Amino acid sequence: MPFGPYRGGGLALAAVAWLAACGGGADGGSSATGPIIPPVDTDTFPLRALAQQAGIRIGSAGDRGFRWTGSDGSSFRSILSREFSVLTPENDMKFDHLHPAPTTYYFAGADSLVAFAQQNQMVVRGHTLVWHQQLPRWITSGGFGADEAWQQLSDHIATVVSHFKGKVFAWDVVNEALNDDGSLRSGYWFDHIGRSYIELAFRAARAADPNVALFYNDYNIEGIGPKSDSVYAMVKDFLVRGVPINGVGFQAHFTLNGLPSTLGANIARFAALGLKVHITELDVRVPVPSSNASLASQAQNYHDVVAACIQNKGCELVTTWGFTDKDSWVPSTFPGQGDALPWDSFFQRKPAYRSIYNALAGR
Ligand code: XIL
Repeated sequence: MPFGPYRGGGLALAAVAWLAACGGGADGGSSATGPIIPPVDTDTFPLRALAQQAGIRIGSAGDRGFRWTGSDGSSFRSILSREFSVLTPENDMKFDHLHPAPTTYYFAGADSLVAFAQQNQMVVRGHTLVWHQQLPRWITSGGFGADEAWQQLSDHIATVVSHFKGKVFAWDVVNEALNDDGSLRSGYWFDHIGRSYIELAFRAARAADPNVALFYNDYNIEGIGPKSDSVYAMVKDFLVRGVPINGVGFQAHFTLNGLPSTLGANIARFAALGLKVHITELDVRVPVPSSNASLASQAQNYHDVVAACIQNKGCELVTTWGFTDKDSWVPSTFPGQGDALPWDSFFQRKPAYRSIYNALAGR
């Protein structure tokens, strides 16, 4: 797997990279004892290098902005590749995008993101194999029965996971299968197959790629509560029964100051099962228009999430759901809310960027 244990490694490399970028030599500001932490806002010292130094990775989702032409497109791609070492296709690997007709697969969109990631030494998180949303009409309006749904699920997973074998280091195998009270959510796969669709999906993914990390991903499971308790029980049962699973993704779509105080403890209890935790879709939405005060609170929220990941050993990465307010799902999904990401609509760094930087630097 191209994803190694980074915690504790890479300090020398990151420091050397910064010194080289500054044109500095042995006396380029280093002290004999401590790590070299350049001041915030140095264009030359990217978040991804600081993250490596801190023992985690930092990533972003993206696909629309990635395809923009003109200066916005080049700003998008250059910040993406400079600052982040994990790329999650925001939509391009979803069922409706990859599998628009029963025997038609369309891989070109996702493949272009994978190629970009490889060119820029980024790893790719696959998102997502099984979800109740973004399903094509040929699935949802086909009048299918249980056996057909089972076949569709197996075929889709086998084809997609095989296609990206060796190119994707982790898959969100099943996304958002639970309601907030911890019960199983109604949707195409559950309604047709029943609760076994979840483990079927994990087994099918493992059969197609023995090495890729397999994740269950959901929202409102970042703190300890009925929904995360239900995930905990499910994955513990999977481990006992040998259903293949490697980790849990906390989406982390937060409202301002909406972080659960139990985030760290929750990461720790999943890690104690031997599972990895990924913060997979972090954003912190604020009422718009935002203010200096709300953006300062947002920055503190970003800091706390990144720090919680660094401080809890099972947590391997933090991925933000996009990085610029120019391209975020928030305004259209949560009317009256926006400005949820670390760069503003003009690709300028916000206080949230600086607080991520500081959290990664251990400040
Ligand atoms: C969102 C994308 O950001 C949007 O562009 C798309 O229109 C809908 O899906 N949880 C998830 C993500 O797991 O896949 C969702 O992404 C956001 C919520």
